[in-house]
Amino acid sequence: MPKKNIGRNFNIYPMPVVIIGTVTDGTPNFMTAAWVTKLNSEPPLVGISLGHRQHTAKGIQQTREFSISIPSIDQAILADYCGLVHGYEEDKAAHIDIFRGALESAPMVRQCPLTLECRLNSTVELPKDFFFIGEVANVYATEAVLTDGQVDVTKLRPFVLTMPGNSYWALGERLGDAWGIGKALLKPAE
Ligand SMILES: Cc1cc2nc3c(=O)[nH]c(=O)nc-3n(C[C@H](O)[C@H](O)[C@H](O)COP(=O)(O)O)c2cc1C
Repeated sequence: MPKKNIGRNFNIYPMPVVIIGTVTDGTPNFMTAAWVTKLNSEPPLVGISLGHRQHTAKGIQQTREFSISIPSIDQAILADYCGLVHGYEEDKAAHIDIFRGALESAPMVRQCPLTLECRLNSTVELPKDFFFIGEVANVYATEAVLTDGQVDVTKLRPFVLTMPGNSYWALGERLGDAWGIGKALLKPAE
């Protein structure tokens, strides 16, 4: 299959859409993020990459705490809004029903069905972004997105971002079992 080199500034996609919460200059603030990933299982560590200019980055450095709220498609407009303006320009928290768990400076979005509160573990300073590594202290879920106590993605209905094109997408059809469908290529046992 012939390949074309299309440059190197490319976003891995699809990207999860989440809302990061923290307290900046004493006030709760929320921003949308898509550069988000799990990093370690025990202790559970997650990573978020935030531009140096983000009001949220300032708050995480001040408080060493942050939250990750995972919106469903029902909160897509709220999530997009939190990515349109900086907290120093507009009080985004006015649109958010805030709740707190165990941490004082990790305000979470009650409208979102799944939320994590995190303590800052470490920061990697990159040329344009801070990569914040957080240890998850607690995860909170709305009963309605659980099946047998586990998060059920068909009930959660998260959405993803793709770039280029700046589009949000709901999840599509289920393809098959992870750690399962690839077994068709395993060397047969002798
Ligand atoms: C879908 C979406 C994803 C975004 N992902 C990121 C991200 O991963 N990192 C980042 O620094 N900014 C990201 N942004 C931009 C910030 O959300 C935006 O600059 C926001 O205004 C920052 O708010 P703050 O200054 O109050 O922290 C994203 C915006 C949108 C709409």
